[in-house]
Amino acid sequence: MTRGGRREATYEAPPNIALVKYWGLRDRALAIPFNSSISVTLDRFRSRTTVRFASELAHDLVELNGAPATGGPRESVVRFLDRVRELAGTTDRAEVRSENNFPTASGLASSASGFAALAGASTAALGLRMSGRKLSQLARFGSGSASRSVFGGFVEWQAGHRPDGRDCFARPLFGPDHWPALVDVVLIVAGAPVKAVRSEDAMQSTVATSPNYARRLVELPGRIRRVRAAIRDQAAVRLFPLLMEECDSFREVCETTQPSLDYLTTTSRALLGEVRAINREAGRPVAGYTHDAGAHLHVFTLERDAATVRRRLAKTPGVERTLLLHAGPGAHLVE
Ligand code: DP6
Repeated sequence: MTRGGRREATYEAPPNIALVKYWGLRDRALAIPFNSSISVTLDRFRSRTTVRFASELAHDLVELNGAPATGGPRESVVRFLDRVRELAGTTDRAEVRSENNFPTASGLASSASGFAALAGASTAALGLRMSGRKLSQLARFGSGSASRSVFGGFVEWQAGHRPDGRDCFARPLFGPDHWPALVDVVLIVAGAPVKAVRSEDAMQSTVATSPNYARRLVELPGRIRRVRAAIRDQAAVRLFPLLMEECDSFREVCETTQPSLDYLTTTSRALLGEVRAINREAGRPVAGYTHDAGAHLHVFTLERDAATVRRRLAKTPGVERTLLLHAGPGAHLVE
C-alpha cells in the first residue's frame, strides 16, 4: 500500500515445529545450515506484523507485543531491515509492530513466526516481488527456522550444496490437509528456564565441541528420507519412532556440547519416559515426542488416540497446560 510516500504492509505467519532439526550453520554469514530439516507448520497461532517505511523517520521503531523492543531483539530486527533496504535500494527507516496471538512463554517458536512475518511485510511494503522460495531465503537471515514458516503443512528446508546458498531454501512437501488425523499435543511445562544462550550461538558451540556431531550429520540424510516417506504414506507407525530417534540425537549432541546444553526440566524428562511407556504398553507406536531448544514437549499422535494421550500426559506433575494443534497454512499477506 502506498500512501503519499508511506509504504505499509501487514503479514501473518505461523510457528512451526521441527521433526528433523536444524542445528548448526556451515556458513554463518550466509545462514546456510549443515543439514536439511523438516517441520510442520502449526495452526491456530501466528505472529502478525505491520511494517511502514517512511522517509521522515530518523530511526527504526520496533514494537513487540505492544512494548518497544530494545537490545538484542531490536538489533536483530534492524539488521534484518537493513538487508531488505539493500534489496530494495532504499535507506528509509521503518516502523514495525508485531504481535503474537500466543503467549510468548508458551515456548512456541516466536522467532520463526516473527521473522517469516517480518520478511513478508517488509518486502511487500517496499513493493518487492518475492516468490515463496525467495521469501524463505530471506527469512532465514532473521532466524533459520523462519525459512520454513513461509509455507504451510509439511515443509523441508534444504541445505543445498552450493557455497553461495542459491540452492538453500525451504519448499512445501505436503500441504496442510495432507494428513488431517495427525495431531500435535503440546505440553507446556512449568518453570521452563529462559534460554541462556541464543540458539544461533548454542548450535555453533555444538558444531565446535560435540564429539557426536559428525556422526549425526552422517545419519541425517537417511533419516530425512525416511521421515519424508513416512509423512507421504501417512505411516504413523514409522513416523513416531523416527521422531523420537531424531529428537534423541538432537538432545545427545546438545548434552555433549561443552559447556553442556540442557534444555529440559524434570517434568520434560518424565514426559519422554511417559510417551515411551505408552508405546510399550500398547505394543505399538501410539505417539512420538519431540522438543526444540526448550523444555516444552510436542507429542504427535493420531486423532483417535489424542484424548487418551493428552489426558495421561497432563497428569505428569509440572505440566501446566496442554494444547491440541494440527498442520496449518503458511505465511500470507493481510489485505
Ligand atoms: C532447535 O532458527 O529458531 O528449533 O532464532 O537463534 O532461536 P534462533 O534460531 P532458530 O533455531 C532453531 C533450532 C531448533 C530446530 C529447528 O527448528 O529446526
